[in-house]
Amino acid sequence: MSDPNNIIEMNNVGIRYGQGPEILSDIKLALPRGSFHFLTGQSGAGKTSLLSLMYLAQKPSRGQISVFNHNLSFANRDQLASLRRRIGVVFQDFRLIEHLSAFDNVALPLRVSGMDEREIRKRVTELLTWVELDAHMQDQTSILSGGEKQRVAIARAVINRPDLLLADEPTGNVDNIIAGKLMKLFVELNKLGTTVVIATHSDKIINDFAYPRLHLQNRGLHIYYPSDMSALGGVHV
Ligand SMILES: Nc1ncnc2c1ncn2[C@@H]1O[C@H](COP(=O)(O)OP(=O)(O)OP(=O)(O)O)[C@@H](O)[C@H]1O
Ligand SMILES: [Mg+2]
Repeated sequence: MSDPNNIIEMNNVGIRYGQGPEILSDIKLALPRGSFHFLTGQSGAGKTSLLSLMYLAQKPSRGQISVFNHNLSFANRDQLASLRRRIGVVFQDFRLIEHLSAFDNVALPLRVSGMDEREIRKRVTELLTWVELDAHMQDQTSILSGGEKQRVAIARAVINRPDLLLADEPTGNVDNIIAGKLMKLFVELNKLGTTVVIATHSDKIINDFAYPRLHLQNRGLHIYYPSDMSALGGVHV
């Protein structure tokens, strides 16, 4: 089924929790390599749930998913683990290792990949400085503010230039100036080849960047391209 130019494909996908009703139904989606999409929808529409399928944390209740041209129905644990290493994730609730410093959280993916410690120091320092956390590099993340934790989580997700970046409300805890700067980071990463999906409630961000929008509504997924965004009218995100 899969087109080699697509990083993610979903067909007839449903998601449900336990014995409850489906929260998303008949999802059909193809994300081309190198694309950039926003993911929108009211609170509870299923954005985090859809992202959790994309980062392989959850299986659909039905349908087929392929990620990096691997049909997940046939992937074993080792294959899933190796696919997951190509995905950077910014979780809505950050999921930092709270007893480690900001530096060590961001260094983690590089250490796992076996990079030289001197190179790690250089890259992590550069990125944490860019997100304006140079003064907090050695702070244990448990003491950081919400917006600071969010920036550590973003730095950790992008430090090894993943093939796919999935970010769940990555600018929800920062002011407009920092949000603009973080968006610039995602845009630059995308220009280097990373496929990006960003869940957001921010009208400002969606309006400032002319990327297509995956919109979840009534358990379904609708795609809007920048030229027909006006068709959305007053849809609240
Ligand atoms: N682990 C879970 N167990 C049961 N129900 C869940 C679970 N996670 C999510 N849900 C339900 O699935 C629906 C979609 O939730 P989800 O977190 O995906 O929405 P969202 O679009 O990310 O919302 P928000 O904008 O508030 O983050 C909600 O009705 C939620 O209650
Ligand atoms: Mg969510």
